[in-house]
Amino acid sequence: MKATDLTLSHLSLAALAALLPALATAQSLTSPEIESRIDELLGRMTLEEKVGQMNQYASFQDMTGPAPEEGSARERYEQIGQGLVGSMLNVLGAEATRRAQELAVEKSRLGIPLLFGYDVIHGYRTIFPVPLGEAASWDLEAIEASARVAATEAAAAGVHWTFAPMLDIARDARWGRIMEGAGEDPYLGSMIATARVRGFQGTDLSALDTVAACAKHYAGYGFAEGGRDYNTVDISEQTLRNVVLPPFHAAAEAGVATFMNSFNEIGGVPATASVHLQREILKGEWGFEGFVVSDWGSIGELRAHGVAADLSEAARLAVVAGSDMDMESGAYVGHLAALVESGAVEEALVDEAVRRILRIKFRLGLFDDPYRYSDPEREERVLSNEAHRATARDVARKSIVLLKNEGGLLPLRKQGGTIAVIGPLAADKDAPLGSWRGQGAVDSAVSLLEGIRAAVGTDTRVLHAEGMTLIAGTRDFGVAPVFAEDDRSGFPAAVEAARQADVVVVALGEGAFQTGEGRSQVDIGLKGLQDELLREVRKANRNVVVVLMAGRPLVIPWMAENVPAIVNAWLLGSEAGHAIADVLFGDHNPSGKLPATFPRHAGQIPLYYAHKNTGRPATDSVFTSRYIDMPNEPLYPFGFGLSYTTFELSAPRLSATEMNPGEALEITTTVKNTGTRSGAEVVQLYVRDLVGSVTRPVKELKGFERVTVAPGESKDVTFTLSAADLAFYTAAGEWEAEPGDFQVFVGSSSRDVKDARFTLK
Ligand code: NOJ
Repeated sequence: MKATDLTLSHLSLAALAALLPALATAQSLTSPEIESRIDELLGRMTLEEKVGQMNQYASFQDMTGPAPEEGSARERYEQIGQGLVGSMLNVLGAEATRRAQELAVEKSRLGIPLLFGYDVIHGYRTIFPVPLGEAASWDLEAIEASARVAATEAAAAGVHWTFAPMLDIARDARWGRIMEGAGEDPYLGSMIATARVRGFQGTDLSALDTVAACAKHYAGYGFAEGGRDYNTVDISEQTLRNVVLPPFHAAAEAGVATFMNSFNEIGGVPATASVHLQREILKGEWGFEGFVVSDWGSIGELRAHGVAADLSEAARLAVVAGSDMDMESGAYVGHLAALVESGAVEEALVDEAVRRILRIKFRLGLFDDPYRYSDPEREERVLSNEAHRATARDVARKSIVLLKNEGGLLPLRKQGGTIAVIGPLAADKDAPLGSWRGQGAVDSAVSLLEGIRAAVGTDTRVLHAEGMTLIAGTRDFGVAPVFAEDDRSGFPAAVEAARQADVVVVALGEGAFQTGEGRSQVDIGLKGLQDELLREVRKANRNVVVVLMAGRPLVIPWMAENVPAIVNAWLLGSEAGHAIADVLFGDHNPSGKLPATFPRHAGQIPLYYAHKNTGRPATDSVFTSRYIDMPNEPLYPFGFGLSYTTFELSAPRLSATEMNPGEALEITTTVKNTGTRSGAEVVQLYVRDLVGSVTRPVKELKGFERVTVAPGESKDVTFTLSAADLAFYTAAGEWEAEPGDFQVFVGSSSRDVKDARFTLK
């Protein structure tokens, strides 16, 4: 899918050069030279050494999963020297990685370097918006730049490999990990997957500012029943192919070095033991040449799933299914050699897994210099690079979504008057960092209060009152968040500040550790007394701007109804406060769009724009697919987001109303800025396949284009839609477009669209 802004038809050379990296083909993970070096090395390895390459342990420096059943740090480090460990995760810093690497290189018989992995999810030291927030930018260049900064910092701290991007499509905001992905849509998810892989990996894995990426969690993890983490998934092959897999396929096409499988089962088969997912689709159909790592302990968990009686059987199932590396189960290192010796597992499977792992180590340049990423001097220099914060601020402000702005309350004036900054998150320097904050230091984010103070003139009075505290858990993965709070003693001061002010900015939402792994919730409204505080403040002053900080869409019906302005600011990372102030005071005109639907009520979940029509689409009649106590419609739909200006989009103009297979259609809309400020609109293209061999969604995103338009000006945006863009997994099990009638929509959200029709011959 290619979108072209017609006004850009005369591209300058500089603009063309900027486009070139996007057009470059993905780097291949293999080369004849590397394969022959692998042949030579494999020929010298004992079975135990081969299995060692397939074993990954965590250091105890950062525990990102349940504590292992056995094995002390000392024993693990000893095993490195014995050649029984191929990779470590959570070894932190140039110094520590160098020391661990010395054990592998200098003590083990063959000196094969270790691979160091870490969860660099949205930044290493400089923290960027949570991935769901970044996805709201719909700005692929910004997202790529964010991943590149993260890679640059991580690679300088000894990390070779990030466990990102997370590509799980998520349509249930109760699931705490919705925060880690790009939201609900496979097309947006695929574009962002490609941008993130490119940002992390660049065009050369051995460069000092790139790391190997990992497409996770393969697959279906976001479809956990009830939104409860790790829970059962039971989806059809149609949903798997049409909704879940496209971002993974895009990552594979972009040359991602590794995949991580997922904790969940799908239809009775745990992903870690799934031959269908790993061997048939990933390594078969897609020809993936990198390796697959299990998730933390997921091989061992095959016992709890009830498909393996013991760890040995779990190891056999996983290796047969194509899980190449065992993260934290000790299943391979404990049992695989015996399984091969007894004939239960073919040695060829082990050889294949080791080949894949060594391939990535060669690609990273580790055999040329195993210490290339472990230079403490470079680490210090790179981690204190101020330019990284500027990039983080830019991405953060692009991620903000303006949900409501009644009466043009925003942007605020910088000069004169009184602003009250209220709420439990107003002065919080930690919450914006989120729960997967890499090595972002505690309390290192710019708070909203700091951001506002830095932005306003000296003649503006800024009052601050917390109103209440929000207890939202700790980073400790063993401890679930606590929401007990009933202390209203801060309310009077907050109400008084609101009374004295011309405008009140109220910061509400979620604490850092309320979303993320293991942070599922049944209630995704505002926790604790926040709603109550907001009502009190609103009584004292009508000019309320809510700044909502959260890692998931929240359910906010009262706020949406009663507060004039709402700025959805996710968890924006290190520069959060500055970025929000940029938007509040109009230095940046917001253009973010929701990558996930905001429901009116958690009872509507799963709620997503690309739903099916059903046999009884909703009308006023009882006998249709609806609730009797609430509309089907969301509070804010996918793709929605306001600007300080207004845009009008014309109905789509089609270059033809019929398309033959192999042909393409041009769809043009004119975007007019009908307001008084310059602004950017993300124009969205959706399609509906009216009759298919299987039921098709009522709308599917097929393209988007950001266009900046001056007040009063109009610009044409043209999308090119080819027959291939209409393909899906059909009833016949083929990926193809079916002839027939289509509806095509252009719009500023999935709800606000204008349509036309065409026929595919
Ligand atoms: C478990 C998580 O599911 C995965 O995303 C993460 O990469 C690993 N733990 C390692 O921390």
